[in-house]
Amino acid sequence: MTSQHPATPTVAAADSGRRPGWWRDAVIYQVYPRSFADADGDGMGDLEGVRSRLPYLRDLGVDAVWLSPFYASPQADAGYDVSDYRVVDPMFGDLADAERLIGDAHGLGLRVIVDIVPNHASDQHSWFRQALREGLGSPLRERFHFRPGRGEAGELPPNDWESIFGGPAWTRTVSSDGTPGEWYLHLFAPEQPDLNWENAAVADEFRSVLRFWLDLGVDGFRIDVAHGLVKAAGLPDIGHHDQLRLLGNDVLPFFDQDGVHEIYRDWRRILDEYGTDPDTRRIAVAEAWTPSVQRTANYLRPDELHQAFNFQYLGTAWDAEALREVIDLTLDAMRPVGAPATWVLSNHDVVRHLTRLGSGEDAEQDLRRARAATLLMLALPGSAYLYQGEELGLPEVVDLPDEVRQDPAFSRAKGTNAEGQEGMRDGCRVPLPWSGAEAPFGFGPVPGGPSWLPQPAEWAKLSVEAQTGDRSSTLELYRAALTARREHPALGTGDSVEWLDDAPAGVLAFRRSSPDGVFACFANTGDLAVRLAAPGRLLLASEPVTVVEDEILLPADATVWWAL
Ligand code: GLC
Repeated sequence: MTSQHPATPTVAAADSGRRPGWWRDAVIYQVYPRSFADADGDGMGDLEGVRSRLPYLRDLGVDAVWLSPFYASPQADAGYDVSDYRVVDPMFGDLADAERLIGDAHGLGLRVIVDIVPNHASDQHSWFRQALREGLGSPLRERFHFRPGRGEAGELPPNDWESIFGGPAWTRTVSSDGTPGEWYLHLFAPEQPDLNWENAAVADEFRSVLRFWLDLGVDGFRIDVAHGLVKAAGLPDIGHHDQLRLLGNDVLPFFDQDGVHEIYRDWRRILDEYGTDPDTRRIAVAEAWTPSVQRTANYLRPDELHQAFNFQYLGTAWDAEALREVIDLTLDAMRPVGAPATWVLSNHDVVRHLTRLGSGEDAEQDLRRARAATLLMLALPGSAYLYQGEELGLPEVVDLPDEVRQDPAFSRAKGTNAEGQEGMRDGCRVPLPWSGAEAPFGFGPVPGGPSWLPQPAEWAKLSVEAQTGDRSSTLELYRAALTARREHPALGTGDSVEWLDDAPAGVLAFRRSSPDGVFACFANTGDLAVRLAAPGRLLLASEPVTVVEDEILLPADATVWWAL
C-alpha cells in the first residue's frame, strides 16, 4: 500500500456527501429478462417471470431493479437492437405485463429502471427499412449515417472505423436493382445501424419515447452506449486497427464527444418535468465507457444525468493498492459535480466477477474472493449495482457449446485472435437456478423443460432454494449485507472514506463516519491471513472469523465490517 495519498477527507466532508435522493445510496439489481425467470415455459425469460419473483428481490433487500431491454426486437444483439421502442416484444409479454410489473414493484417498495438504446436502432426498425426501400436521397437516410464508399467504384468503406463486435463498422447496401449502393455505419452489429443525432427527428423521437415510459411509471433509464451518440464532424479516419478497447485512453471520433452533453441536458429537463422531490425523482444512469473517471463525471454535472457506471472500478484487480487508487479517483471525481459514486463488479457484458477476479484453479478460493469483493463494494459510499445471480455465487459458464451461443460478438470474433471468454457474453447470461434438482432448476415452470442456454448440472446446489436459510451461503451473505447497509447510519450515501494507514500491506482498511455511528471495513486482498486489532463490534464477515482478546485473524480473500 502506498503511503503518499491525498489528504484524508475529514468527517465533515463525509457529512456534506449526505444529500437527500433515493438514488444516492440505492442498491440497484440488474435483471436480464431473457435469463431471470420464464413464466410461460418457452425457455426464454419473460416479464411475467420477473413479476412473479419481485418478492424475492424485495426480501434480498435491493432498492431498485434495472431491466435490460424487453422491447420489440429481432434479437440480433439480445434485445439491444430495438425495432419499436414503445412495444414489448411478444417473447417477453406485452405492455400490460410491463405495467403490472411496474405497479407490483412499486407496491413492494422497489423502483424500476428501464434500458433505453439511443445510439442505434434495429435494421428492422421502420425508419431503416423505409430508408433502404426509398434508396439514395431518401430523407429517412438522414436519420442514420449513410455514406458513399471510397475507391473507384465505392467498393471500400467510407472510413476505417471498426465495429465493437469485430470487422468494419460499415455495411454496404444493395439497391433495388441489385447493384451495390451506399454504406451505413454500425458501431455494433450490422443489424444495429447507428442513428444520426444531428437529425432533429431522431432527437424528437427519443424525447417522446422517454415520456412514453415515464408516463407508464418507470423511475428512470439506463442509457445504453451513452457515450456514442455524437460522432466527430466529417467522420475522420482513426489510422490504426484495434480501435475499440472499451476502456482505452484513446479519444476516438465516435466515443465521448463533447456534443453528447447537450443531449443529456435536454433529457434532464424532461426527467425534471416529472418532479424533483428527492424521494420520487426520475433518474438516468449512463453506460459511458470513457478514458477516465473525470471524463465520466462530465455526464453527471448538476444539469445532466444522475449516475454513471464505474467501469474503472469494475476493471480493477483484487489488489489493495489498485483498489484504493480507483476508489480515491472516483470519489475525487464525483465530489465536485455532487453526484454519487457508483460501484459495480458484474453485468451482462463482462465475465462474472467470481471468475474474473479468481485464479480459476481453486473454486472455493474464487468464491471466497468474490464474496470479499462484494462486501468491499457494498461498504463504499454511494450506490451499487448487482447483476442477477451474483448473489448466488454463480461463476461464468465457460464451456458453452458453440452451437448454443447467441452473442453476436462470438460469431463475429470467430477466426480472429480473440482469446478465451473475454468479450464473449453468453457465459454470464445463463438462466438462473431457482429450485429443484433438475434443469432448468425452476427457471421455467416444468422440470426437464427448456432454457435458452443450458445450465450446468452443479447449479442445483447454487439455487435460491438450496441456499435459503443456510447461513454460510452466498445468498444469505448478500441478504445480511443489504440489511446491515440499510441499518448502519454510516453506510450508503456519502462522498468520502477515511483510510486507516496503519493496515498491513495487502489490506484495505477504511472508516466511514456519520453523526449517528461509525463504521469500518477491512478487506484482505493478500495471500496470507493477517492479525489485526478489532476496532469495534463485528457486524458481518465474508468468511467465518473469530475475535479473540480484541484481535482478529483476517483470512486471505476476506472482508469484515465493524460497527464502532
Ligand atoms: C451496451 C450493452 C451491450 C450491447 C451494446 C450495444 O454495451 O450493454 O449488451 O451489446 O450496448 O447495444
